[in-house]
Amino acid sequence: MTAGTETVAALFERVLGGAPAGFWRAPGRVNLIGEHTDYNDGFVLPFAIDRATTVALSPRRDDRIRLVSTFDETLVESDLGAVTSRAFSGWSAYPLGVAWAIGEHAEGALRHGFDVAVDSDVPVGAGLSSSAAIEMAVAVALNDLWGLGLGRTELIRIGQRAENIAVGAPTGIMDQSASVFGQRDAAVFLDCRSLAVEQVPLGFDAAGLVLLVVDTKVEHAHATGGYRDRREACERGAAAMGVPALRDLTVDDLPRAMVLLDDVTFRRVRHVVTEDARVLESVAALRVGDLARFGELMAASHVSMRDDFEISVPQLDAVVATAQAAGAVGARMTGGGFGGCAIALVAADEAESLANEVLRVFADRGWHEPVPFTVRPSDGARAL
Ligand code: GLA
Repeated sequence: MTAGTETVAALFERVLGGAPAGFWRAPGRVNLIGEHTDYNDGFVLPFAIDRATTVALSPRRDDRIRLVSTFDETLVESDLGAVTSRAFSGWSAYPLGVAWAIGEHAEGALRHGFDVAVDSDVPVGAGLSSSAAIEMAVAVALNDLWGLGLGRTELIRIGQRAENIAVGAPTGIMDQSASVFGQRDAAVFLDCRSLAVEQVPLGFDAAGLVLLVVDTKVEHAHATGGYRDRREACERGAAAMGVPALRDLTVDDLPRAMVLLDDVTFRRVRHVVTEDARVLESVAALRVGDLARFGELMAASHVSMRDDFEISVPQLDAVVATAQAAGAVGARMTGGGFGGCAIALVAADEAESLANEVLRVFADRGWHEPVPFTVRPSDGARAL
């Protein structure tokens, strides 16, 4: 048994019975830069982190689907016939949503049910894509077990469909892509229109840097509220500018956008257009090892999210300000916003003092205690 599978194997045996046919693992992600650009057909630069979902799965001879997880040990039962796009609630919406999306993608692909136990050390609701980690672990597992022969891009689309339709969160393609295409010591540079992927070596270790994540503990939910609203503003902006997606605009189009659009829509559009440019510039800077320039782009990205896209919260701004004051190379909020995590690229030997400083700042303001931890760029979804 591989390290890290004991918990999920024990849960499987206790609740579902016997030993699983195999184990699969898919990581969460942080996004280095490129926020709210994915559903605008733009560019993103996330990496898969060293925190992941592990599933233990076995095929069944009948139609039953039985699910259990370490976050809720109550057995959930369903069957293939009941797996429709609207049948789900709670955490099981993710694995059942994937089963549904596979059936929809390749009719008749799932001829039998399965038993699955799920464990994860990706913090939930923190903006580190705990949901994509579950989706992709289950998708890869079912693909392997049933020999479906689906390619990585198809699996990513299946995960996104589960999230969009079965869970009801109108999110883009970034999280699932990072979880699948992640590679040790590299970021995933993704063109969200063509789904072309390039791995960009990060060289943080060699430069003596680490990526510190601070979970502010301010919870967000993308199925409701601000996320959907931002997405609609982007679609409105693209339509008014006469393009299929904001990806098709450049900074040279902004003066015209300013005349055509109302102030709020204009600022939403300006964020996305400048953010796409920042991703491209970041990739160029990282390729030549110019981490200082990359840090400046992180800072500009945060300002754009705070002032133009208006998805930051005081806790995220405070982490970024504290990191900058402590001399971090770069810092910004990461993920969908309205809470969740901020990241700081800092000297390895200063990460701990920065973490302590952040704890002190939050305590002073009477905010919920944040959780700082470092993450490493890691490999994507795989069988163990
Ligand atoms: C969430 C979504 C992603 C992406 C980010 C913002 O993480 O799941 O698809 O839109 O927000 O960049």
